[in-house]
Amino acid sequence: MIDYVSGFGNHFSSEAVPGALPIGRNSPQRPPFGLYAEQLSGTAFTAPRHENRRTWLYRLRPTAEHPPFIRYEQATRFTRDVGNALLAPNRLRWNPIADALPGTDLIDGITTMLANRDPADLEGVAIHLYAATLEMTDRVFMNADGEMLFVPQAGRLELLTELGRIEVAPGQIALVPRGVRFRALLPNGYARGYVCENHGALFRLPDLGPIGANGLANPRDFETPIAWFEDRDIPTQVVQKFMGALWTTELDHSPLDVVAWHGNLTPCRYDMARFNTINTVSFDHPDPSIFTVLTSPSDVPGRANADFVVFPPRWMVAEDTFRPPWFHRNVMSEAMGLITGAYDAKAEGFAPGGLSLHNLMAGHGPDLDSWQGASDAELKPRRIEGTMAFMLESCWPYRPTAYALEHGQPDYDAVWADFPKATLP
Ligand SMILES: [Fe+2]
Repeated sequence: MIDYVSGFGNHFSSEAVPGALPIGRNSPQRPPFGLYAEQLSGTAFTAPRHENRRTWLYRLRPTAEHPPFIRYEQATRFTRDVGNALLAPNRLRWNPIADALPGTDLIDGITTMLANRDPADLEGVAIHLYAATLEMTDRVFMNADGEMLFVPQAGRLELLTELGRIEVAPGQIALVPRGVRFRALLPNGYARGYVCENHGALFRLPDLGPIGANGLANPRDFETPIAWFEDRDIPTQVVQKFMGALWTTELDHSPLDVVAWHGNLTPCRYDMARFNTINTVSFDHPDPSIFTVLTSPSDVPGRANADFVVFPPRWMVAEDTFRPPWFHRNVMSEAMGLITGAYDAKAEGFAPGGLSLHNLMAGHGPDLDSWQGASDAELKPRRIEGTMAFMLESCWPYRPTAYALEHGQPDYDAVWADFPKATLP
C-alpha cells in the first residue's frame, strides 16, 4: 500500500520518519538526525513564482559523494543516434518492438525511436519504447537531460524514486522529474511501454480558456507519493543520461535515501480514465488540442515544445460531420502511440505498442477503409470503446534514430493509396 497526495505542482511536505523534516527553514545548521539538506531545482532560481519548481531533500548521504562517471555501454539502443543525414519528409510507422530478452531491465530495455533538438538546447523531446523482464535491484537511473513521462502499454511498473514509490499500470502515466533517481520493479514480471522524454519547459496543465475552471485533466487527479527511503549499504550502480549519452558510476549505498522532503518538484502519476474528455455536441471537431493532458510550452506563445494528448473512450455525436480525424497537414510534428484497442483513423497496421510519425507538413489522416466507413456511416450517437491512443506533438520535427529507420513498416504510404477521385458535375 502506497500513499499519495493529490495535486499538480503543489507544495507538498512529507517525512518517512517523524521529526526528519526541518520546520521553518530549508537548510538549518544541523538538520534532524544528521541528515544532509540538498536542493533539487527544476527551474532557474529566478523563474517566475508561478513557474518556479524545486524540492528540498533531507537524505542519509549527500548526492555529491560519488566517483567519476565513465561511459555506460550496455543499453545499446538507448541512444539518440539520429545521424547527420538529411531528414526525409516521409511518414513512418513501426510495429511493437520484440519482447525483451531475459535479464533485461528497464534501462537496458529502452529503445530510442525519435528525437528532436539536442538536450543541451533545453528544448525538444525524445520518444523511447521499453520492454523489460528484470527488476532493477542494485542499480538506479537518473536523467539529467529531462523529465521522463512513462506510458505503460503492458505490465505494471513500480518506480522506487528518491521522493517515494509510484505504482503505474497501463492506462496510467507517471512523470519523473529531471534529476530524480529511481529504480523500476516489475510487479507482473514484465513491462512494455513508451517514454516521452522532455528536454524543454516542464510539463504543466494546459490553460483552459473558455472551458472554464474544470475539465480535461483535473489537478487533484495527479498523485504524488509520500516520502519513502531505503537504507541499503550495498554496491549500487548509478546510470545517468547526460547530453544524450549514458554514463555510470558506483556507490557503496542506495541513493534512494531521502528520509523527508518538501517542495513542488515531485514525481506523480495520473490515471487517464479520469480525463474529462470534451468535444463537440453539434458538428465538426475541435482541434486535437482539446485532448491535451500536459503541455510543455516553448518561447513562442501557443506553440508547444510538446503536448501530451490522449484519445480515450468517448461518445461521438457530431451531426453531418466526418467523425474520425480529418485529413490534415500541420506545422506541428506528431508522434503517436497506442496503449490499447484501435485508433479511429486507422483500420489496421497500428498495433498497441506501435508508433507512428507524421512530421511537419506531412499529409495524413484516415486510411481508405476508415474514410470509406466513416463517410457511409449512419450518424447515430456512438461510443468509442476500449481504446487509448496518445500523441506527443512537438513544434520541432522528429528525427528517427538509426534503429528506427531500419525497422519501420515497409510501404506505410500505401494506406493512403487508391482514394477515388472526386467527381465534378
Ligand atoms: Fe495528425
